[in-house]
Amino acid sequence: MRGLAAGNWKMNGTGESLSEIEALLAAHPTPGCEVLICPPATLLARLASMVHGTALKVGGQDCHAAASGAHTGDISAPMLAEAGADYVILGHSERRANHAESDAVVAAKVSAAQAAGLKAIVCVGETEAERDGGRTLDIITTQIEGSLPEGTDPACLVIAYEPVWAIGTGRTPTTDQIAEVHAALRAQLADRFGTDRIALLYGGSVKPSNAAEIFAIPHVNGALVGGASLKAADFGGIIEALSAA
Ligand code: PGA
Repeated sequence: MRGLAAGNWKMNGTGESLSEIEALLAAHPTPGCEVLICPPATLLARLASMVHGTALKVGGQDCHAAASGAHTGDISAPMLAEAGADYVILGHSERRANHAESDAVVAAKVSAAQAAGLKAIVCVGETEAERDGGRTLDIITTQIEGSLPEGTDPACLVIAYEPVWAIGTGRTPTTDQIAEVHAALRAQLADRFGTDRIALLYGGSVKPSNAAEIFAIPHVNGALVGGASLKAADFGGIIEALSAA
């Protein structure tokens, strides 16, 4: 399975930031893994036309479950696809926490995304209190069950394991902790979908200096990267580590 290095710019980036993409493309014209950038929606169409014909793909950071309608401020999956997106991140912990997105809401978005021809990157992860309480695998299993609707197409699905306490904190789980969750995810997904070809990403404080170690963990097929995806040099280091894994 080809690895996936996915960058999530979150609410960062203006037109000026596209120079980082130029630098990234110049340094990595033919990466040995799939490379994705999910910019803020304001940059999506510009980025998509900029990277047209290159190895770089673009994606959204969220979508609404409906295709259109009276939902001020929201963006639908067909709109993302029309703007040039191939992927959409769904159920990121910041959406779950800041916008009260339940597993059921995420599941409805997965259906909408896949119906629009997008690949869904579905995020799951425990809080620090849940980990301390020994509930990590329970939480992950429940999130997966509830966030993947009936009719989910496993060929258009990526899962990202992102411990909430590791996002933007500089802290990462031990390799054993990541390995335990990824093995559980692999087993759960194989049981439900009958395939072990669904890419499993790790996310949370991935940077060039820890990327190789993380990509060596069984069932880690790439990374979802926040802060370190904003700079071409940092994201480039992660792409190199994944290409070499
Ligand atoms: P981080 O964010 O790499 O800045 O920790 C990861 C994410 O939220 O996807």
